[in-house]
Amino acid sequence: MTPYQQLLQDLPRAPKTWLITGAAGFIGSNLLETLLTLDQTVVGLDNFATGHQRNLDEVRSVVTREQWARFAFLKGDIRELEDCRRACNGVDYVLHQAALGSVPRSLADPITSNATNIDGFLNMLVAARDEGVKSFVYAASSSTYGDHPGLPKVEDTIGKPLSPYAVTKYVNELYADVFARSYGFTTIGLRYFNVFGRRQDPDGAYAAVIPKWTAALLKGDTVYINGDGETSRDFCYVANAVQANILAATTSNPEARNQVYNVAVGDRTTLNTLFLMLRNNLLTHDVSPNVRPTYREFRAGDVRHSQAATEKAQSLLGYAPSHTLEQGIAEAVDWYLRRLKASKAPQSCVASPDASS
Ligand SMILES: NC(=O)c1ccc[n+]([C@@H]2O[C@H](COP(=O)([O-])OP(=O)(O)OC[C@H]3O[C@@H](n4cnc5c(N)ncnc54)[C@H](O)[C@@H]3O)[C@@H](O)[C@H]2O)c1
Repeated sequence: MTPYQQLLQDLPRAPKTWLITGAAGFIGSNLLETLLTLDQTVVGLDNFATGHQRNLDEVRSVVTREQWARFAFLKGDIRELEDCRRACNGVDYVLHQAALGSVPRSLADPITSNATNIDGFLNMLVAARDEGVKSFVYAASSSTYGDHPGLPKVEDTIGKPLSPYAVTKYVNELYADVFARSYGFTTIGLRYFNVFGRRQDPDGAYAAVIPKWTAALLKGDTVYINGDGETSRDFCYVANAVQANILAATTSNPEARNQVYNVAVGDRTTLNTLFLMLRNNLLTHDVSPNVRPTYREFRAGDVRHSQAATEKAQSLLGYAPSHTLEQGIAEAVDWYLRRLKASKAPQSCVASPDASS
């Protein structure tokens, strides 16, 4: 049995109170679903900047009535210290996901990204410290590796940031470290590498590649590849990120605290290969996306190659990814197909748990 499997057995017997910031977002709502399924008490904080009520509604449809009753949602903004204090009240563990993601968004509007990702982060740290939270796990980012060419990426060796977003995520790590040293406050940063999966938003200018391409393939729209398609990433299914959060928050290993960890699979896949994988998966569903990708300019601020070393998370947290990219794509595509079907169904079908799960 892996440490995570053991934890899944133990947690329902000793429920804790968790705060998820960004609970209406992609990763946040997946954390919410898992924790409620484990009979935990959860507080969610979100201002719906990029998250959606429909994500919360979907979680509600897949948990029991008793589990949903253990969830309290606060509509609030992490840029307001009082909102953070309210949310942290009586909480054991914080999983801080709220932020404005996307490199291009931060290049277009660095001031708002800074306010949310740095001011908001500091508010959350202060509120969690003052409320006596046991540990503060936060969403860091692989963008912190910046222009360092080394592969695979090892936690201790980073380069210079390539975007305002990357600066904000690096500053998070610096603040978290200082709070550990100065106040003895436990923090753990998880450097996510291209997380994907159900409920990741396919719409909007700043959508991530997998939901954007899946939606385009399903609709028969053009799929754009930025650059020559040989850019590579370590795509990580959301279940792996959920596992890392729960392991990190509850770790009893003192050496594992006040650290940052890569969260990924440890593989590297080019965009050209990813395109083929998505297209081939859709073929197994009798969807025949008869398209070729259209290549266009490289995107500013993007790193060329990314692949994580995952040994640190394995050895200190007991992290063992449950899903490869293929397995994740299979589950994610399945979800996007069901979502599409539900959106075309009459209203009564859309609301049923099966149709929207
Ligand atoms: N998805 C990835 O591949 C990836 C990679 C690296 C890091 N991350 C980080 O993981 C976290 C979650 O990302 P996601 O992909 O789920 O994005 P998301 O946009 O789906 O979720 C972010 C959530 O935060 C909320 N939020 C934004 N500003 C807020 C504010 N001021 N107050 C309260 N709530 C606010 C949004 O409404 C949204 O629900 C973010 O911190 C992101 O930077 C994600």
